[in-house]
Amino acid sequence: MNISSLLERPLNQSDGILRLLEQTKITEEEHIRQRMQAFYEEHTFPGYDGIDSPSVLMDKAGKSGFGKWVDEAISPFATVLEVGCGTGQMTNFLGLVSTRTVIGTDQSIASLTLGQSFKEQFGLQNVHFVQANIFAMPFKPNSMDILICSGVLHHTPNPKKGFEELLKLVKPGGKILIGLYNTYARIPTGIRKSIFSCTGKTFRFLDSHMRRRDVDQSKKEIWFADQYKNPHESWHSVDEVLQWFDEKNVKFLSGVPSPSGSTHGQLFNEHPRGSTFEHILKQLGWMFTIGREGGLFVMVGEKKMPA
Ligand SMILES: C[S@@+](CC[C@H](N)C(=O)[O-])C[C@H]1O[C@@H](n2cnc3c(N)ncnc32)[C@H](O)[C@@H]1O
Repeated sequence: MNISSLLERPLNQSDGILRLLEQTKITEEEHIRQRMQAFYEEHTFPGYDGIDSPSVLMDKAGKSGFGKWVDEAISPFATVLEVGCGTGQMTNFLGLVSTRTVIGTDQSIASLTLGQSFKEQFGLQNVHFVQANIFAMPFKPNSMDILICSGVLHHTPNPKKGFEELLKLVKPGGKILIGLYNTYARIPTGIRKSIFSCTGKTFRFLDSHMRRRDVDQSKKEIWFADQYKNPHESWHSVDEVLQWFDEKNVKFLSGVPSPSGSTHGQLFNEHPRGSTFEHILKQLGWMFTIGREGGLFVMVGEKKMPA
């Protein structure tokens, strides 16, 4: 598919990356956006390993589980938008299915450049990278089958509004995947952050990612900055996101990890929502599971057809 048919604004392209970044209209929010942009221009997250190739991306996705489940759930003919794609691993991975159109957007040009060079090196013609701001997106409403935004909205001044802006881009019947720091599961990271701020580098081994032998040092430094030196982050609960979904007529399909205790099936199959009590118990447990790796949870919903 030609990407210009999905855009509301004319193409403005250099070095293969479309430059369509516009400012956020509210001045205070724009200040935070600019700080975040400067941060991620310096810390390109998550970054590639020197040896990354399509087969390595597939291997990593298989090991992480989530990437593989997303890939399995998405049709080979879907139009997919990843918002806040960082260095574009997920975008490039999903684009390995050449019949999909996959677009990765981010405001950090340094991050997008890494994604673009992987795309060019491996000839992924159906993958496109676009510089854009979540709060001034250049795409037509109701144009995307799938929208993925993971690890991003909690770095914006108004995550709920960000979700609402992104939902506008999804077709009725399309799917939205939102990944956020969890209020409970992020507590261990908050404790580690306090320890690191008092003790410098001495106790960095308390973060399991920093102990990994299969990750090179420069990627570990980027992880550390992203997790512990980020200028702006917020934490969110399962019930909060369910409320966002309910207010905007989005049907809850599934969560990763599951917030209700139901076992995982297909991401786009409807799973039980669970009760608030179950969510609290689950999220307390997440402190000891996903809490070791930053405490990110993903909620998957379907934009309902208009009545
Ligand atoms: C922690 S990284 C996540 C990258 C990727 N989604 C992942 O999970 O590996 C957060 C990304 O969100 C981007 N971001 C933050 N605020 C944004 C905004 N207002 N518009 C577009 N991108 C934004 C940053 O530039 C950064 O690349």
